[in-house]
Amino acid sequence: MSHSKYQRPRGMQDLLPADQRLWSYITETYVRICRDAGIDRISTPILESTELFTRAVGEQTEVVTKEMYSLIDKSNNSLTLKPESTAGMVRAYIQNGMASLPKPVELYYIEPHFRYERPQAGRYRQHHQLGLEIFGDAGATSDVHTISLGSRVLASLGIEHIVAINSIGTADDRSKYVAVLQRYFEKYSKDLPANNLAQLSTNPLRILDSKDSKIIEMIVDAPHILDYLSKDSSLRFQLILEMLEGCGISYELNSRLVRGLDYYNDTVFEYVSTGNQARDSLGGGGRYDSLVSQLGGVDTPAVGFGLGLERLKMELEANGFWPAENGVDVFVVAIGKDATNYAEVICELLLDASIKTSANFTKKSLSDQLAIAAKKNARYAVVIGNREAKLNEVIVKDMSSGNQHTEKQDTLVKNLHNILKA
Ligand code: HAM
Repeated sequence: MSHSKYQRPRGMQDLLPADQRLWSYITETYVRICRDAGIDRISTPILESTELFTRAVGEQTEVVTKEMYSLIDKSNNSLTLKPESTAGMVRAYIQNGMASLPKPVELYYIEPHFRYERPQAGRYRQHHQLGLEIFGDAGATSDVHTISLGSRVLASLGIEHIVAINSIGTADDRSKYVAVLQRYFEKYSKDLPANNLAQLSTNPLRILDSKDSKIIEMIVDAPHILDYLSKDSSLRFQLILEMLEGCGISYELNSRLVRGLDYYNDTVFEYVSTGNQARDSLGGGGRYDSLVSQLGGVDTPAVGFGLGLERLKMELEANGFWPAENGVDVFVVAIGKDATNYAEVICELLLDASIKTSANFTKKSLSDQLAIAAKKNARYAVVIGNREAKLNEVIVKDMSSGNQHTEKQDTLVKNLHNILKA
């Protein structure tokens, strides 16, 4: 690595060509799965009003209190680089009148997000999510369909995983549970760090998210939210677990799972890797039935997930997975100046005919150019010397057998199409 005066921002990554191979493989798999399920793509701006996130994600969440990249623009508006996409998706759903579309409205996205977190393996200040939001279906099948789609994406990428799932009930259920939790933590009030102590009065559910081993110990005997669910939420959750089983999706009930964002109700879930060392979750999501109305839209139930693209890439790397080389059909080789100029014409001709073609005219010798052709997995080399250039013809060489023949420019495309099809 060479030293440069300018460094990329801490916790952010350059995606070099080698990274792009895996990156495209993952995003293309995601796009294919969403399209096959009849889901449409959406993109929203990278900046949204700061207030959108404060209201949607929650004033007391780590994301809002510590991690937002906010700025004041020249018109004195407070804007924030989106730390997550659900809030912006709901804003777009309302603003673009999507409430009048036939339900459910199913949208997928691949978007960058920014969180000022402490950088570490799998935790970046710019990360990307493969996300999905389904608006307008309150049924338990919608939760199962969402969970299953995320699982399908991971399975298609060969990532072994389990779905950790919980229900956090309705707002009423949570306020009953929160009161019990506050009483439980009272005995630890002297041992709780200042930030958790503050959370105890504002939002004690966040204490359950803690990664601090001391806090994790305190939580062991804490009451479980599942014991405080209303009958409807409890039955709904049972039904979802049964349906997951019926669909063959392996899950693990985790009654401590509450998620770090405030908009959820009932179902919450995370995808956890079982193939490689335990890490942070590969993705997460849940139901958020109040968010659309809370942000000013008509009451609309919704559910969704976000899969961490960087984390999926790390999983594929840990699995030693490498997508097949993006080979070409033809590599054009030129020996001599006139030949090179003519070879460029041939390259364009072949690309016009949708024949995958590449060349490297910075290399002068035949052997160097043929070596690159082999590296690019070219099936044929089209070899041109000054003589061929003068006669408007080329030599077509089969890269595996070494057999070669001369071909006129006029018939080249047609004959290449024929032999490539064979
Ligand atoms: P989240 O759990 O905050 O959910 O993020 C989803 C996933 O994004 C995480 O499980 C993780 O894989 C990845 N991720 C989050 N932060 C980072 C980071 N700093 N570096 C690398 N990867 C990260 C949401 O954001 C929700 N909006 C998901 C959702 C959609 N819920 C409903 N719909």
